[in-house]
Amino acid sequence: MISQSFIQDLLDRVDIVDVIEREVPLKKAGTNYSACCPFHSEKTPSFTVSPTKQFYHCFGCSAHGNAIGFLMEYSGMSFVEAVNDLAARVGMQVPAQQSEPRSGATGAESQSAESQSVLAQNQSQDGKNSLQDLVGVMDAAGRFYRQQLRSSKVAIAYLKKRGLTGKTAARFGIGYAPTGWQNLDAAFSDPETQTRTTLLVNAGLLIRNDDGKCYSRFRDRIMFPILNLKGMLVGFGGRVLEQGEPKYLNSPETPLFQKGRELYNLFDARRAIRQAGRVIVVEGYMDVVALAQHGVEYVVATLGTAVTPFHVQKLLRQTDDVVFCFDGDNAGRKAAWRALEDSLGQLVDGKNVSFLFLPEGEDPDSYIRNFGKEAFEQLSRQSLPLSIFLFRELSARVDLKTSEGRAKLVQDAKPLLSRVAAPGLALMLLKQLAEISGFTQRELEDLLKIRRVSSERARERAPRPKPASPYRWLMQILLHDPNHIRKLERELLIQDREYGDEIAALTALVEFIDAHPHIKENTAIPSAIAYFHESPHGILLQKAESETLTWDSDIDLEAEFSGAMARLRDMKRKQRMTNLQNKSLSALTPEEKQELQRLAVS
Ligand code: UTP
Ligand code: MN
Repeated sequence: MISQSFIQDLLDRVDIVDVIEREVPLKKAGTNYSACCPFHSEKTPSFTVSPTKQFYHCFGCSAHGNAIGFLMEYSGMSFVEAVNDLAARVGMQVPAQQSEPRSGATGAESQSAESQSVLAQNQSQDGKNSLQDLVGVMDAAGRFYRQQLRSSKVAIAYLKKRGLTGKTAARFGIGYAPTGWQNLDAAFSDPETQTRTTLLVNAGLLIRNDDGKCYSRFRDRIMFPILNLKGMLVGFGGRVLEQGEPKYLNSPETPLFQKGRELYNLFDARRAIRQAGRVIVVEGYMDVVALAQHGVEYVVATLGTAVTPFHVQKLLRQTDDVVFCFDGDNAGRKAAWRALEDSLGQLVDGKNVSFLFLPEGEDPDSYIRNFGKEAFEQLSRQSLPLSIFLFRELSARVDLKTSEGRAKLVQDAKPLLSRVAAPGLALMLLKQLAEISGFTQRELEDLLKIRRVSSERARERAPRPKPASPYRWLMQILLHDPNHIRKLERELLIQDREYGDEIAALTALVEFIDAHPHIKENTAIPSAIAYFHESPHGILLQKAESETLTWDSDIDLEAEFSGAMARLRDMKRKQRMTNLQNKSLSALTPEEKQELQRLAVS
């Protein structure tokens, strides 16, 4: 048996959106995600996944469950398999199972009994040190800090001095950790036990020194509670009141809290982010709080760490438009560059990442207090798109007037471009690189050993002998049975230098059949060959006809014919793409850019 508390910890750690998204593409729909239900067949999506409640539900077929239930239903795993699978994904060790069979229950039955109780309830049952228990002491500490703020004149004065209203402080749950090495004792009514000490240490609220003595981590600091996406209090940031080192002290990494994954204020900003259609990422707690107080509420902050790919992924799930806001100094540029690197692999076409640099000496907090909401929002709308920031930085590192400089630019761009997974964005970046470096796109592709999006399939086929062209194939089929001409999509017979002769011969054959409708009554048209005997197409058509002799008797001409049409459509698409790719970026109209992105992914 796997303990209930472990199951609960596991469910708290995994995100059901991740779990389901691996199998079923999800679309954001309000707070939730939706998709066509994987458990029954439907055309309009009624399958819903709730990231806050961590379950899925289908309004069509009533399929319902949590992350474990989904894996069991969808992948046919047993309960234990699903638990192991999820635990492996989040790096948790499934505790060794003690065999503790319930009376009369077989292993399988007790598993499903357990799974049902897990689906139904949400509470940790045993008193062991579970994530629920950690959240319990975090909540108690949070309440205590808030209450302490109310009675601390110095702390209130400090916040006032920084321009915060009481309303804002309450809204962000801001508190105050009083002085004193054992200041948390007062947070609990009952006397401290060994278990609670351990819990407080594991929650990062107490520090155990080498002698085994414990003392409070946060003393005499303004406390900012950090909530995860489920609204659980998972960490704190604590600021000294005036001068002191470190200025901000954050919770350490705990089973609840991973800095590289959490974002300050994301939980509370979700609605504002949806309404604004974008999110602004700033560096500091005070920046978030001040912006929100001035009415810019779609703001989150990293927690004293650089932006990570997890952050970017998390944000792009909430919105299509992420604006990173940094100070205009060197440190800000560096931080922005890291954010750019981490964004490249996370971007999908249709999503945007951009960079906003504040005037030197300002941070978002000071900027909005000095210039107000309008000015800040106006500035934020002028953020630099990722591609522009990228090439501006790369260009600044080299001398573009020399060939050496341009060659270095290409080499510097190489590792960055290779991270980009979104085909449309990759293409656009390549075009811009071509424009700046003076290389052609094709030269760059060779130089960077980038596989052309469109030729990837062709390459996989490369070792095989070149198959007959679809034009040749159509000739054969029409010569064999002219009735197939009904299904010919004539607009697909466009110019193509590589197949000029074959297209000409096919076109002549089509015209011949059109002009001699009676031949459709025959199943074969040897007369066509005679007709073309003296024409330049004669030899090709004869060859095509002779090739039909080797056909298997059970060949499915319907399927072959539509297969050839499909290949023609694909060739036409690629031809159009090449045409657009060969234009310079500035010559492309917005419609053409969109078309190119569409073509690249279709
Ligand atoms: P800043 O030093 O830019 O502070 O740190 P700030 O947000 O402007 O703070 P105020 O206005 O002086 O109060 C930005 C962020 O970097 C992290 C914190 O998350 C902070 O909000 N940081 C900073 C730390 O984690 N530790 C530090 O010692 C300093
Ligand atoms: Mn500041």
